[in-house]
Amino acid sequence: MNEPWPTSATRFAGVIGWPISHSLSPRMHNAAFRALGLDWAYLAFPIDPDHVSDAVRGLFRAGCSGLNVTIPHKHAVIECCSAVTPAVEAIGAANTLIPDGDGGMTGDNTDAEGFLRALDECAPIDLDGAEVLMIGAGGAACAVAFALKGRGARLRVANRTEEKCAALGEVVPFTHQAIEDAAARAALVVNSTSLGMGTDEVPADLPLESLGPHTVAYDLVYRTEPTPWLAAAAARGARTVDGAGMLLHQGAAAFRQWTGVEPPLDAMRAGLTSR
Ligand code: ATR
Repeated sequence: MNEPWPTSATRFAGVIGWPISHSLSPRMHNAAFRALGLDWAYLAFPIDPDHVSDAVRGLFRAGCSGLNVTIPHKHAVIECCSAVTPAVEAIGAANTLIPDGDGGMTGDNTDAEGFLRALDECAPIDLDGAEVLMIGAGGAACAVAFALKGRGARLRVANRTEEKCAALGEVVPFTHQAIEDAAARAALVVNSTSLGMGTDEVPADLPLESLGPHTVAYDLVYRTEPTPWLAAAAARGARTVDGAGMLLHQGAAAFRQWTGVEPPLDAMRAGLTSR
């Protein structure tokens, strides 16, 4: 493009977090804007936790057309919202802010929708009445639990800090045997912990021996290549879903709300993996 850009007509959206330099959302959303020829730009804003409300209100005051919110601000932004969706109320966190055109903003959480869309795309299963084991009970786990309950799944949860499990589902003790036994009964096993990030070993706390063709293994950890746990699960015949799909579809759901346009998924997927 030889013409000067951005111009005074260029619209902007972005993501706030602390830190934020690792975020792949700018690649994904800017690829989408380019693919559709939209005169929009997507930026990453590092916002110190002491200034979240000021920053969010200031960005929208300056004409921002939409924000994503990531760690550690997903809870704090709720107080800035003039309205929140039922997903935010249930999950207790917002990852998407949409200006309402009247000076206010609606908070939404698209992580649950992103989780389900990626599952439906990569390894569709009937979750109604199905037993699901989730390892982890942090922020991402709350969105996954909301999504799974909406589909009628029976959720069992194992977490290093056991007292966080009960709010999400039936508690499974965080021992190797208990986790393997629960995985053997599960149609879907989800890793919502950070275990597997930055290692080439299968984390000892994730189940493996009990996985097989009857299992879908879903790892929320995002890496460009399959995580060691997913690779090992696939070698045992399990169907697998990686963290890229959830990242893509939560972003696509936000994009749809900001622009009113159907997101170009292939361009967004290519943007995520471009180096
Ligand atoms: P996110 O928003 O990505 O879910 P989070 O809320 O910090 O991040 O949650 C991280 C999850 O990974 C938690 O379930 C955490 O377990 P604790 O609740 O016991 O902290 C889990 N986790 C992180 N490191 C872990 C480790 N080394 N072993 C086991 N679980 C771990």
